Amino acid sequence: MMDINRLIRSDIADKGKYIPVEPVDVLERRIGRKILKLDGNENPYGCSPEVYRALAEYPHYHIYPDPEQRELKELLEQYTGIDRRQILCGAGSDELIDLLLRLFLEPGDEVVNCPPTFGMYPFCTDICGGKIVQVPRKEDFSVDTAAVIKALSEKTKIIFIASPNNPTGNVTGEQDVVSLLDTGKIVVVDEAYFEFSNITMAGLVRKYNNLVILRTFSKWAGLAGLRVGYGFFPEEIVEHLMRIKQPYNVNIAAQVAVKASLLDMDYLQSNISSIISERERLFALLKDLKWLEPYPSQGNFLLCLLLKGAAQELWSRLRERGIFVRYFDEQRLQNCLRISAGRPEDSDALLEALRDIEPVV
Ligand SMILES: Cc1ncc(COP(=O)(O)O)c(C=O)c1O
Repeated sequence: MMDINRLIRSDIADKGKYIPVEPVDVLERRIGRKILKLDGNENPYGCSPEVYRALAEYPHYHIYPDPEQRELKELLEQYTGIDRRQILCGAGSDELIDLLLRLFLEPGDEVVNCPPTFGMYPFCTDICGGKIVQVPRKEDFSVDTAAVIKALSEKTKIIFIASPNNPTGNVTGEQDVVSLLDTGKIVVVDEAYFEFSNITMAGLVRKYNNLVILRTFSKWAGLAGLRVGYGFFPEEIVEHLMRIKQPYNVNIAAQVAVKASLLDMDYLQSNISSIISERERLFALLKDLKWLEPYPSQGNFLLCLLLKGAAQELWSRLRERGIFVRYFDEQRLQNCLRISAGRPEDSDALLEALRDIEPVV
């Protein structure tokens, strides 16, 4: 037998792996019981019922979707107020992160990342042959703008800022974003959780031709499984991205679902409001425990620091009870867990488990 490994691109053969969250059925099979999934920042209310109806009635699944994404762009122009020529959709915003890096990076080019943050930025940079330059956030998790500017070099192409940041939940202010934009590097502001914060840099899109804003339907619209995200880009970047993307990158079911979602905004907005209220209620409940310190969040999740015991131990005890939260084995997040905001009954079940576990932690 020949050694197939020999044929793998040498620069990616031993790359690290992105560790994603696992689906409900896999987790339930593994632990043999129903689970409470608070580890993926998914929408506990699911998608709009109109999505199911529209998907059931759609008659043309045998035809490829529109590679130009005309209808999607038009709908998103109406939803966001941004000119459709500045919009591009992807199979999740993950795909747009990957496409941007593929467009801009030559081997050895640098990308600035501000950890702790979303793991796809270093993951995709690595796969695209770029070099990640880590500029850690400050103690309060705000972006250290001065340190970012200092870390820039001739080789820097892109600066990634998630706002609200995953997993810390805080937003980056306009002043900071503008000072990064003034460096002339491409600044990607990832607003995956925008609908929970209502804070956006979209107002800067027309003024700066080095600003990219990413959004998604995964969180607020409950479409994580259908994979659809979009971004606002300078027009010339859209033209380049159109040239390198897979022609049919956003599948037709995702397009049908986006259309149905945007026609059912009252329903979805009411779920967003419920999630925000529950995030705040959960924050107070966790704080009351005294041994967990939740950080304020503008997303649909809370990062919590354990003041007593070890986060990994707590994470695994919660798992034994069928409650899945996110644990990160990272320096700055060593004793932290990230908990997605669920429904009131989800928080109640979590709290009951935490009160039970506490004495043995
Ligand atoms: C900051 C951030 N950006 C992007 C994504 C990915 O979103 P999508 O499902 O659209 O790929 C996530 C998902 O967790 C995220 O937290």
